[in-house]
Amino acid sequence: MKILVIHGPNLNLLGRRQPEIYGRLTLKAVDAAIKSLARELGVNVIKIIQSNHEGDIVEAIQEASDFDALLINPGAYTHTSIAIRDAILSVHIPTIEVHLSNIHAREEFRKNSYIAGVAIGQISGFGLNSYLLGLRAAVGIARDEKRPYKTTGR
Ligand code: DQA
Repeated sequence: MKILVIHGPNLNLLGRRQPEIYGRLTLKAVDAAIKSLARELGVNVIKIIQSNHEGDIVEAIQEASDFDALLINPGAYTHTSIAIRDAILSVHIPTIEVHLSNIHAREEFRKNSYIAGVAIGQISGFGLNSYLLGLRAAVGIARDEKRPYKTTGR
């Protein structure tokens, strides 16, 4: 089973970026926790990338057509990127959207996600656990394509 994890813009600054919102864990620590859970869950390949560039994220998704699932925190591109949404639609990769903070409890502009409508689901507001819950969901989807609800955005 192959799972791709993408961290979007500014997530390289985790730990020192608005710690009151995003916590004090560094991206390195987040990645270590993701890899450790992936091992526990028997994931063969876990590829993790971070990029501040929309086009790089689009290309990484385009190249992931042989992956079983995508776990993505699109950062601020969540609220702006039709290109990332289209890339997900183009490769038909089951996608789980995650956010450290609860995007629905913050500024109005963060409530809209261009990704949510093409994702299996969104996990938002649980810090590191958003990623870990998302990984569990991704593995479950990769193991068994049965989904409780069909997404309408595809
Ligand atoms: C974020 C929420 C976004 O609104 C913000 O732009 C981020 C991080 C989160 O993980 O809570 O960069 O995706």
